[in-house]
Amino acid sequence: MNTNISNNPGKSAGKSVERKVAIITGGSRGLGRNTALHLARKGVDVIITFRSRQSEADTVVAEIVELGGKAVALPLDVGNSKSFAEFVERIGATLRTHWQRDSFDYLVNNAGIGIHASFAETSEAQFDELMNVHFKGTFFLTQALLPLIVDGGRIVNLSSGLARFALPGFAAYAAMKGAIEVLTRYLAKELGPRGIAVNTVAPGAIETDFGGGQVRDNAQLNAQIAAQTALGRVGVPDDIGGVIASLLSDDNRWINGQRLEASGGIFCSLGIGCGSGASRRHAWRQGLAKALMPLLPAGFLQ
Ligand SMILES: NC(=O)c1ccc[n+]([C@@H]2O[C@H](COP(=O)([O-])OP(=O)(O)OC[C@H]3O[C@@H](n4cnc5c(N)ncnc54)[C@H](OP(=O)(O)O)[C@@H]3O)[C@@H](O)[C@H]2O)c1
Repeated sequence: MNTNISNNPGKSAGKSVERKVAIITGGSRGLGRNTALHLARKGVDVIITFRSRQSEADTVVAEIVELGGKAVALPLDVGNSKSFAEFVERIGATLRTHWQRDSFDYLVNNAGIGIHASFAETSEAQFDELMNVHFKGTFFLTQALLPLIVDGGRIVNLSSGLARFALPGFAAYAAMKGAIEVLTRYLAKELGPRGIAVNTVAPGAIETDFGGGQVRDNAQLNAQIAAQTALGRVGVPDDIGGVIASLLSDDNRWINGQRLEASGGIFCSLGIGCGSGASRRHAWRQGLAKALMPLLPAGFLQ
């Protein structure tokens, strides 16, 4: 099995017990990678996971070591809940070996995939894949890791702006993210007695590999999203990693059970207000729908 561990045990052995440790699923690229780097700059060590891109994960580990932190990369398929028991054992062994402790402090349920399909054309296989990765995976991985999270720890789950507003082609994906937002509130309630705070971060459209990199690589889509965003541009990973790292810090210790959207204010610009169904429908028709049109089946928007 692939495992990359990169640190200098001798250099940090004296301090290892005091350092916070975060687990970030899907830390090899995109928002997970960026969160890992932001946490490392704050002095938090990380265990990142990857599904297939070990070389990218290795690079993130090397970047964190360069920043003076400690990091480990482990393989994990969050869509395969049967693997979680073994993964938790590996986490326990990794914590003991590299941090001389049995617990960790922060969990970021970030790993995810994008599948674009209209409601009418979403297959059961696509639905199951999205559900296993985004919802079932988050639910049962968090459950499996619960004994290892310290009392007073923190959890951040990743949702999406698409759980607040509706755009064609994301019914299944956005519904899973909506479920994550509900789950977050229930986790906050049930884990509160252990002092564990649980929140959701809901990014807007961010330039990563997600969904085939469309937001980054499709200039027309990028411009349309920017036009609907109060801050006038599409998001980049640095817009999100800092939010998650900040939410995990003691500065935000009293925030619990919340959904924090980090989208630059999408659908809040051009004098159309923020949040009403009418304004969202207007923005949808005027902007993103045009850019999404080539991706949709003929007649879908009529
Ligand atoms: N980018 C956006 O516009 C956007 C907006 C709203 C919400 N989000 C959410 O933010 C999260 C991260 O997205 P991103 O933009 O960073 O995506 P990304 O750049 O495509 O990176 C996805 C990450 O998830 C990992 N991953 C994918 N499937 C996995 C699986 N089955 N098991 C374990 N790991 C898996 C990948 O690992 P490998 O590198 O090994 O493949 C990679 O590290 C997702 O939950 C997504 O839904 C993204």
